[in-house]
Amino acid sequence: MRLAVTTALAARPADVAAAREAAARHALPFLPREHRSLAAAAAGAGAEALLVLSHRGATLFLDGAERRWDPGMGVLRARRLLRGERDTRDPFLEAAGLRPGEAVLDGTLGLAADALVAAVAVGEAGQVVGLEASPALAFLAAEGLARLALPAARRVEVRRADAAEALAALPDRSFDLVCFDPMFRHARAQPPGFDLVRRLGDPRPLSPETLAEARRVARRAVLVKDGTPGWDLARLGLTPLPSARGAHRLYARIDR
Ligand SMILES: C[S@@+](CC[C@H](N)C(=O)[O-])C[C@H]1O[C@@H](n2cnc3c(N)ncnc32)[C@H](O)[C@@H]1O
Repeated sequence: MRLAVTTALAARPADVAAAREAAARHALPFLPREHRSLAAAAAGAGAEALLVLSHRGATLFLDGAERRWDPGMGVLRARRLLRGERDTRDPFLEAAGLRPGEAVLDGTLGLAADALVAAVAVGEAGQVVGLEASPALAFLAAEGLARLALPAARRVEVRRADAAEALAALPDRSFDLVCFDPMFRHARAQPPGFDLVRRLGDPRPLSPETLAEARRVARRAVLVKDGTPGWDLARLGLTPLPSARGAHRLYARIDR
């Protein structure tokens, strides 16, 4: 997908400078907005999608519509954790059992909701790296996180990468937890903003080879999420952890 970076209309000079820097960081062309509509700017540059940046946030202009980066319940979940509320209402946290100072590798970053929550859970001494195969989603999440009014968001390091390739290049036992939330095969009601993930996300299921690499890279555990009834967990030979009655999501954890 041909991507470029631009700004919101009437952008402040600081926003223009930040957008230029972001374009350079992601090796994308920068398009001065020049009072043009997003459609005109994209057409002029032959871009299929535009990453639109301002101090208020990051959006993606695609298929004629602008969608804001929105990690859904991720911000609420992160704030709840910051307030010290118990994590039993957060199945991801409950299954992951994260502790302060841990290093987490999220192999399926998506909109970075789980990565944001993980960044709060591991705290300033911890580390969260998120891998995302889709360049548009990776850059959108990186720029959205950079603009979120939550300091933990700055602790998520986004890498545009295929998890299988990235894991193969990592040393043994180099992250405490490696987690995966692959695309579900059966679409269910999803949070707002998730249509972007459905449109752009890598639909491949987690392969046994990638899971084996994750086991090698993990010091403490590998966590895999699936939709009920857990066909993918069964395919991978994993047993789901007990879940709440009526839960739509299942987790399996492989402890090292
Ligand atoms: C269901 S979403 C993850 C949502 C995420 N847990 C969140 O909190 O926003 C799955 C994401 O994983 C990405 N993905 C799938 N396979 C991947 C792979 N092999 N390497 C990197 N990213 C991958 C997809 O592109 C998609 O964005």
